[in-house]
Parts: sequence; structure tokens; C-alpha cells
Amino acid sequence: MSDFNQLPAHVWPRNARREEDGVVTVAGVPLPDIVEEYGTPVFVIDEDDFRSRCRDMAAAFGGAQHVHYAGKAFLTQTVARWIDEEGLSLDVASHGEFQVALAAGFPPARVTAHGNNKGIDFLRACVRNAIGHVVIDSAQELELLDMVAAQEGYVQDVLVRVKPGIEAHTHEFIATAHEDQKFGFSLASSSAYRAAIAAVRAENLRLVGLHCHVGSQVFDAEGFSLAAERVLGLWSQLQRDLPPEAAADLTMLDLGGGYGVAYTEDQAPLDVVAVATELRAKVAESAAEFGLVAPELLVEPGRAIVASSMVTVYEVGTVKDVHVTDNVTRRYIAVDGGMSDNIRPALYQAEYDARLINRFSGDEDQPSPCVETRVVGSHCESGDILIDSAQLPADIAPGDLLALAATGAYCYPMSSRYNMFCRPPVVSVRNGRATLMVRRETIEDILALENY
Ligand code: LLP
Repeated sequence: MSDFNQLPAHVWPRNARREEDGVVTVAGVPLPDIVEEYGTPVFVIDEDDFRSRCRDMAAAFGGAQHVHYAGKAFLTQTVARWIDEEGLSLDVASHGEFQVALAAGFPPARVTAHGNNKGIDFLRACVRNAIGHVVIDSAQELELLDMVAAQEGYVQDVLVRVKPGIEAHTHEFIATAHEDQKFGFSLASSSAYRAAIAAVRAENLRLVGLHCHVGSQVFDAEGFSLAAERVLGLWSQLQRDLPPEAAADLTMLDLGGGYGVAYTEDQAPLDVVAVATELRAKVAESAAEFGLVAPELLVEPGRAIVASSMVTVYEVGTVKDVHVTDNVTRRYIAVDGGMSDNIRPALYQAEYDARLINRFSGDEDQPSPCVETRVVGSHCESGDILIDSAQLPADIAPGDLLALAATGAYCYPMSSRYNMFCRPPVVSVRNGRATLMVRRETIEDILALENY
């Protein structure tokens, strides 16, 4: 690590700064002040950062209407409102996420429903609220949705999820376009083609597009391009084979999300503008080749919008030097959260950037030396590691505040109450003001769930 006091701009929120006194502020709000008011651990989200990334995505893909924010990355009613105000649409992956969107007054017509096993209650809620689109994931769901729509006297717009058979270079658990996994219909075996035909024939469904998603935290631009090519192949085949009115309805190509972000200083985010330019050109070119009007290109980024908008602030507790070998001593810095608020290192070997945020480390004349450090949580499990190998200054002491950057995506939504830890609050910051977005869970909340 080059300089402990630096905040790598491609990892930290756009409005994060280390001030002259060494304290880190986000959007002008000193993080220690947030800690004083809300305690630790605490998630802090930079609202302008989030909004600016929505706008960047919209610009890259030719307008906000082409971008569906993937709510699974992080969704609250406030976030749904921000997305609405930025003109983006919203993807929900469950009935619960849809209910959050509805509670926030998000227009259902701009919501798309995902899921490999949507229950009848979810499907009914989609139809009753006139949701924009349902992405059909199985033959069973196609029949069920057609039946529900018939009962409700409605024709539901749908997309068919296609599995383009691509090996995305990401962690196995978050790659979704290869053949041997649970999502979508296979292109290779023609089951995607048959599902599309079945959707057209279903009386209460209207097939308006095809969907695919390569995987998440993907850096390989080729993967997106290849997926687009294959799905476009199916789209053009359907354009030829379907009756003219059905072919005219089939106007959308949703290529999912997955754009990789930087979690550490030495990583670089995927160049989304370059990917967008290529994808848009590819769609136009391919359509022209088939003599067809180009379909509308849609994308569903989650992580690339919210990951870097948020940091998690912890208080340092015990600091322990552990003898590893005769030449290696490892310092274990324990913070007051861990795998309950960030399961990603344990689940995907995800890496993070940690910085001391309440003061400078060392001083200018005598910078603190670096020690090989492991940042661990406070859970009763030795795998409760937040950063396996961190280069941190030697002067970190109990009571210091440490922040992990880029914790905006999939940390709060995947949080748990393991060891009866209460979920941390989420505080949004903008123009020097902090606003509580989600309060801290309390032990009373947990006890209240139990029938005792
Ligand atoms: N669209 C679909 C259909 C998806 O399945 C996903 C993510 C996205 C969009 C958004 O992908 P993103 O742009 O955020 O990469 N829990 C994992 C990530 C799982 C992603 C699941 N699907 C993690 O923490 O890395």
C-alpha cells in the first residue's frame, strides 16, 4: 500500500476526503461524527455518488430508460425514490423487494420481476399492480403466470430468460450464464426458443423481449459481447418465425448486469462506457444485418451503481499479535462487526480496502510502519475474516475507527443476525448533512419475533 492516509478514488465514494486534521469526511460529514451519533458498525452512503453513478450509467446506455437498477444490490424505500427521481427503472428479485418498491411509491410500470422460483403470491402481486415486466424463468412459471393473468383478466408483458452458455470469469457462485445452473432456458438445446413460442401462444402473456445475465463482478468485456451476439441470434430467428404482430411486440433485449467494480487499490473497474459502446454498436449492426429494426437495449446494473457509494465504519477492539512462524507475526485487528454485516469475504473471498478514518496514521516526519494485518470480525468463528491480508499502519489501537470502502453492494442485503448481532444502521450523507436511512436493529426487535 503506497500511503495509508490516501483514499483510492476509484474505490472510495466520490465525495470522500481526508481533511487537514486527518479525519475522513464523506459529502462534508466527518465519519467520526456519524459514529458519535449512530454508533458502530454503521453503513454510510454518499447520496450524490449514488445518483452520479445512475447518471453515468444512463449516459453510457443512451438514456435512463434503458437502465434498470438491480435492487438486490441494495434496496430501501429511499433508494427506490432516488432511482425514480433519476428516471431509472428497477429490477426486483423477490416479492419482498417488490413490496419495498411499492411502499416507496415506485411506479410499478417501471419494475421488472426476476426469480427462478416466483411463488403464486408474487406473480399475482405483479399482475394486480400492473408491473412492467415479468422475466419468465421456467415452463412451469409460464403456465402459472398465464393462469394468474387469466384469473385477473389481464395480459402481462413478459421477457424470456435465456442462458447463453457462457463461462463468465467470476466466482462460481455468481456466474449465471453457463449451462449447468438454475436460471433461465438454454439456448443450445432450443428450450429458450420453445419458451418464447409458448409465451407468444399463451393467451394472457405478451412476449416483449429476451433477457440474459452473464454473471456478477465480471471484468471480461468479451463475455457481454458474446452473450449479446447469441441472444441476438435467437431474437432474429424469432423475428423470422413469429407471426408479424408477435414479431413486432418483441422489441427488448435485456442484457442484465454484472459490471465489475474495484474493491482494492490495485484493481480497476470495468470500463462500462466502452462495453456500452460496443454492445450498442453490436445490436445495431446485427439488426441491420438481418434487415430488422434494432431492439431496445436494456441493462440491469446493481453493484456498479451502489458498491462504491457506501463505506462501513467499525470501531477497533482487540489488537493481537499472533506468532505464525519464526519469521512471521500477524496482527489480528478485531472490529465490532464482521461476517454478519459483510459475508462477502467468507463467501466469495472478496477483498476490501480498509483505512483509519479518525486521524492520520503516524505523522509526516515519522510515518507509521506497515504491519501484516488480518482484519477480523467479532463472531464466534475463525473464518470471520473481513480482510485476510491487509497492509495497515502499526499504530492502529483499540478505539480507533476503521472503514471498509465499497461495501454498498450485497453487504447490507446479505447481512444476518448471526450470534444475535443487530443489523447496523444505514446513514445517508449529502451536502454536509447526515440522515438516518435505516435505524439500527435492536435486541428488542429480535426478541419481539419470538413467540415466548
Ligand atoms: N440482473 C440479474 C438477473 C441478476 O441476477 C443480477 C445479480 C443483476 C442483474 C445485478 O448484477 P450486478 O450488476 O450487481 O453485478 N451476492 C453476490 C452477487 C450476486 C448477484 C446476483 N445477481 C455478491 O455479493 O457478489
